[in-house]
Amino acid sequence: MTYCIHVPSDTTAKALGADRVARLVEFFAEEHKLDMKVSRNSTRGLYWIEPLVEVDTEEGRYGFGPVKEGDIESLFTAEFWKGNVDHPLALGLVEEIPYLKRQERFTFSRLGITDPLSLEDYKANDGFKGLENAIRLSSQQIVDAVKESGLRGRGGAAFPTGIKWQTVLNVESPKNQKYIVCNADEGDSGTFADRLVMECDPFMLIEGMVIAGLAVGATQGYIYCRSEYPLSIENLNQAIKTAYENSFLGANILGSNNHFDLEVRMGAGAYICGEETSLLESLEGKRGLVRAKPPLPAIVGLFGQPTVVNNVLSLAAIPFIMDKGAKAYADVGVGRSRGTLPFQLTGNVKFGGLVELAFGPTLNELMYDFGGGTRSGRPLRAVQVGGPLGAYLHESQWDTSLGYEEFAQKEAVLGHGGVVMFDNTVDMSEQARFSMEFCVAESCGKCTPCRIGSTRGVEVIDRIRSGENVDGNLNLLADLCETMVDGSLCAMGGMTPFPVQSAMKYFREDFVKSTVSTANTEEL
Ligand SMILES: Cc1cc2nc3c(=O)[nH]c(=O)nc-3n(C[C@H](O)[C@H](O)[C@H](O)COP(=O)(O)O)c2cc1C
Ligand code: SF4
Repeated sequence: MTYCIHVPSDTTAKALGADRVARLVEFFAEEHKLDMKVSRNSTRGLYWIEPLVEVDTEEGRYGFGPVKEGDIESLFTAEFWKGNVDHPLALGLVEEIPYLKRQERFTFSRLGITDPLSLEDYKANDGFKGLENAIRLSSQQIVDAVKESGLRGRGGAAFPTGIKWQTVLNVESPKNQKYIVCNADEGDSGTFADRLVMECDPFMLIEGMVIAGLAVGATQGYIYCRSEYPLSIENLNQAIKTAYENSFLGANILGSNNHFDLEVRMGAGAYICGEETSLLESLEGKRGLVRAKPPLPAIVGLFGQPTVVNNVLSLAAIPFIMDKGAKAYADVGVGRSRGTLPFQLTGNVKFGGLVELAFGPTLNELMYDFGGGTRSGRPLRAVQVGGPLGAYLHESQWDTSLGYEEFAQKEAVLGHGGVVMFDNTVDMSEQARFSMEFCVAESCGKCTPCRIGSTRGVEVIDRIRSGENVDGNLNLLADLCETMVDGSLCAMGGMTPFPVQSAMKYFREDFVKSTVSTANTEEL
C-alpha cells in the first residue's frame, strides 16, 4: 500500500518551510523503506497551523501542524502516516477542525484538497460542471442566472455582477470584439484570497472567465495579476496551457462553436492599477492613470471595446452558481449581500487565515470565534476592514453584521474582505498618518485633492502629532478630508479620508495625547 502525505505548496506555506518539510518527509520515507508518496496539494488557508501535513486514512485526512523540519523525526517515530494521533502536533481529522468545519466554502470548496494543476482532481471535484451547463444556455440565460444569484462584485464596490454583464451583452461592439478582464491586482492590506484562487485552484478562475465570455459574447480574456505574485502567474500559465490542450479554451470549447482565448499579464506594481480604468490603461501598455467615468468600461473599455472588468473572487463564484444553481447561492447571506465572502483574517490575530462565510455573522464573531482575539494576548483595540482605504472600527461597532449595507450604516466598508486587527499598543494617529502617506505614494496624480491633499494631510497630521495647535489642525484635517471625499476623481482620493476620519472620531485621544491644545485657528 502506498501511503500518501500531503504538504501544501502555496506561497505562505512555502514561506513557513513547506518545501523543506516535503523534502525531509521524502528523505525519511526512504530511510524507513516506506512506500510513501508526497503530494503537493493546496493550502486549507488555516495559516496558524501551516505547514499542515495531512495523511490519507480510511476515515479521511488526518492533520499534523505546524510542522517544522525538526518535527519530522518524531513524526516518523510516532508512525504518523497511519494517522496515529499520539503526537503533540496531531490535529485529528482535518475536516473536523472547528475553524474549517464552521465555514461555508462555496468558492473555496477544493482548497487544500486538490493538486492545483491537476485537471483530473479539478474535474473529480465538480470542476467544469458549471461550464458544461452554461454551454447549453443562451447568453441571456447565463446573465439571468448571475442576476438571480445576487452576486455583487467582490473587488470592493459591490456592484451587481449580473447588471454589469447585461450592459456588456446589450452594447454593440464597434470592432465586433468584447473583452473579459480579470482584476487580479489584489493590493489591499491583509488580503490574499485572490492569490489563493490563482495559486490553489486556477482552473476555477479559467472556468469563470470562459462562462463570462459566453455570457456577454467576448472571445478574449486577460488576467491582470499583480507582479508580486510569481507563483500565481506560473500556476495560471500552466493551467491555461492544460485548459487549451483539453478543449476548455481556444476554438470549439467542449466541441461547441464557442471560442475563448485567455492570457495572463503582469501588473505594473502600483496600487492604483487595481482601479479598473487605470488597470485598462496599464493593460494597453500605458501609465496607470485613472480615466474619467462615464463612459463605463462596460461600454468603452479595453482598446475602446465593451469590457467586463471583474475581481478574481467575482469570477471564481461563477462556476458554483452555474453548477449548483443561482438559488443555492442566493439562499444564503443577509439583506442584499447574497452568497459568501472569503474573509481574510490578518494583523495581530491569534488564528489568521481564510474564513469563507455566508454574509451575516458579526465582526466580533469573526475576530473572536475564528480569529481567537489578538496574537499578542493584549486587548483588541481597532480593526481595519476593507483594505488601506477602509475605516477603522471601534469596539462599539464590532457587533455589526458582515454585510455591505450593514457596514455602510457604520460608515465602513467590507471591500475585499480583508480584516486587519490591532491590539491596544496601536497609535491611531500614526495609522492615520500612514493612510495619507499611502495615498501620497500611490495617487495616480491626475486630480488635485488626492495628489496635493494627501501630502498636505501628512503635514497636518505631523503637526498634530508634535502637539502644534492641535485643535486647529484637527479642524483643518477634517476640512481637508471632506475636500478629498467630495473633490477626488476616483475612490483612491475619495476613500483615503475614511481611515483618517474614523481614527479621529473614535480614537481622538491618540491625536490629543501629551499635547497642550492652543485652539488657535488663526495661525493656520
Ligand atoms: C484605488 C483602487 C484600487 C483597487 N484595487 C482593486 C484590486 O486590486 N482588485 C479588484 O478587483 N478591484 C480593485 N478595485 C476596484 C475596481 O476598480 C473595480 O471596481 C473592480 O475590479 C470591479 O470588479 P468587481 O465588480 O468584480 O468587484 C480598486 C479600486 C480602487 C479605487
Ligand atoms: S483620486 Fe487620486 S488616484 Fe484617483 S484620479 Fe485623482 S489623483 Fe488619481
